[in-house]
Amino acid sequence: MSSTERAARSLKSLKDEEWRTLAGLERAATGFGTPDLGRLARMSRLPPDRVSFATDALERKGLAMRRGGGYVLTREGVEVMALKDYVKKDLIFALGAIIAKGKESDVYEALTEEGEAYALKLYKIGRVSFTNVRKKRARESAEFKSWMTANYDAARREYDALKKLEGLSHAFPRAVAYSRSTVLLEELSGVRLSQRPDLQDAEAALTSVFESMRTAFTMGGMVNADLSEYNLLTDGASVWLIDWPQAVGTSHPNSAELLMHDVRAVAAFFRRAYGIEVDEQKAFDYVSGKTTTLG
Ligand SMILES: Nc1ncnc2c1ncn2[C@@H]1O[C@H](COP(=O)(O)OP(=O)(O)OP(=O)(O)O)[C@@H](O)[C@H]1O
Ligand SMILES: [Mg+2]
Repeated sequence: MSSTERAARSLKSLKDEEWRTLAGLERAATGFGTPDLGRLARMSRLPPDRVSFATDALERKGLAMRRGGGYVLTREGVEVMALKDYVKKDLIFALGAIIAKGKESDVYEALTEEGEAYALKLYKIGRVSFTNVRKKRARESAEFKSWMTANYDAARREYDALKKLEGLSHAFPRAVAYSRSTVLLEELSGVRLSQRPDLQDAEAALTSVFESMRTAFTMGGMVNADLSEYNLLTDGASVWLIDWPQAVGTSHPNSAELLMHDVRAVAAFFRRAYGIEVDEQKAFDYVSGKTTTLG
């Protein structure tokens, strides 16, 4: 069972005091990182003996762990809070099958009560190391805080970027919500272009990618900044542009450079995989809105 599946399983078994303790741990993490029981009791607004029971239970369930004389949330602890949030808001009802396991995130199907499916992307950037070497408590706190910040920020940034793109084109997944280190997305049906699927019309597919990049840039004010065959999904006809946490706005000092980088990555792949030649400068002028046609 993956950590996310364990988190989903814990969802139903957690008592109110355990939820409050998780919330206390999360609040503490943004401040000083690893609260001891006394501080955690204050952060959770629970009597110390109750917090002690709750942390024992959370530790047993793998949702919290002892570090540097205090307690921190585990990845499962963070994810169970996010899942609860979506369930409470009536957005999802159950966790479905895993769609993809990546380096920086895992993507699961998440089911609504009506039986529809969203894609739930759960970030897992970096790891909190489990070393035997005793570290200074301050250093452990800082490490933990930066792990949380990196994942919470990535989810929020992806959500914000997709909200800026919402309604501009069907080529971007709609972002439904975000919570903690996770973002809830419209589920797309394609496979990665890196798998080199048969395309109905490779040239038309490439043109549609450039069109979408142009829409993102000129209407959404965004550059994906990590575009490649790994972040393009296709069903053979349509192409979707996914994975937006590192996107930058057009006012970013490097936005033109990043846009050119995306153009080059896309052009290089279509050349390699489908034998299509692209004039990169012309493509750049088109996607940046300097010209109105590709040719
Ligand atoms: N909205 C979605 N609908 C369906 N599948 C999706 C969706 N978003 C992502 N996926 C699947 O999850 C994979 C990883 O998504 P994404 O590229 O956004 O994350 P990542 O952290 O960059 O992953 P990786 O480390 O593998 O590059 C995609 O290649 C795709 O298979
Ligand atoms: Mg990706």
